Amino acid sequence: MQLLDGRETAEQIRKELAEAVQERKKAGKKIPHLAAILVGNDGGSLTYVGAKVKACDQIGFESTLIRYDDSVPEEILLAKVKSLNEDKSIDGFIVQLPLPAHIDELKITQAIDPKKDVDGFHPVNLGNMVLNLPGFLPATPAGIVELLKRNNIVTEGKKCVIIGRSNIVGTPLSIMLGRNSNPGNCTVTLAHSRTQNLKEICQTADILIAAIGQPDFVTADMVKEGAVIIDVGTTRVEDKSRARGWRLKGDVNFDEVAQKCSFITPVPGGVGPMTIASLMINTLKAMELKGK
Ligand code: GUN
Repeated sequence: MQLLDGRETAEQIRKELAEAVQERKKAGKKIPHLAAILVGNDGGSLTYVGAKVKACDQIGFESTLIRYDDSVPEEILLAKVKSLNEDKSIDGFIVQLPLPAHIDELKITQAIDPKKDVDGFHPVNLGNMVLNLPGFLPATPAGIVELLKRNNIVTEGKKCVIIGRSNIVGTPLSIMLGRNSNPGNCTVTLAHSRTQNLKEICQTADILIAAIGQPDFVTADMVKEGAVIIDVGTTRVEDKSRARGWRLKGDVNFDEVAQKCSFITPVPGGVGPMTIASLMINTLKAMELKGK
C-alpha cells in the first residue's frame, strides 16, 4: 500500500503558485486577492477558513477574512456578497458552508458573480463543468482529480464507485471522472443512502471514493484487493489523548482497508490539503481570466 499524500502534493502546488506570484510581481502585475466570508463559530469551518487564509499567506496571495455572528440576517450577507462582486480589488471569494438554518445557501451562492466564484458552486460554473467549458471547478473534486493525476493513478477504463451524492463533492466528481479526459474515462457509479447492495457494488470498484461524513463507514470487506481508496470524510471525533480533545476521522476504516488496497489517502493530510490547493489555483485563474 502506498499513501496518497495530499500534504506533499499540495505543497508542490503551493510552490508553483508562489513562483507564479513572484513572476507577476516582477512584471508589475496585480497579486491575487481572495476573500472569505465565515458566519458563526463552527469548529470545522473555522479550521478550514483558517487553512485557506494561511495558504494565501504562504503563496503570497492577499486575503481578507470577513466574519459575521451566527445571527446575521440574510440581507446583510447578500449585501456583502454584492459589494464583493463589485470590489475590483477582490479577484475571487467564497462563503464558507454550511450557513445557519435561517439563511438560504442557494440564494447566497446564486448571488455570487460566477467570475469570482472560486468555489465553483454557482449554477453557471457547475453547468460549465458538466459541459466541459471553461469555468471554476469545485475545489474538492478538482483536488481529488489533481491528486490522482500528480500521482500517476491510471483512471482510464476503471470502475469508480463514489459513495455520497452531495452537490459539492460526489455529484460533480462523478461527472469529472466519467468524462473523456485524463484523469477521467472511468465507468462511474454514484452510490447514496438508498443504494441497494452497496457492499457488493463497492467490491467492484478499482477506485473507491467515500464522501458521506460517516466515520469508518468503509470497511475492508467492501474493498477489492488492490483498489485505490480516496477518503473525503473529515468528522471530528472525541479524543481525550489530544490536548484539544478531538481528532479528525475519515469515512474509511484506515487500518483495515490499508492492508488491502494499492493506494489510500490519509485523514488528515489527504483530500483536505488538495481542496485548499484547488481553491488557490482557482483564485489565480480568476485574476488571469480578467486579463490582469
Ligand atoms: N464547506 C465544506 N467544503 C467547502 C468548500 O469547499 N467551500 C466552502 N465554501 N464551504 C465548504
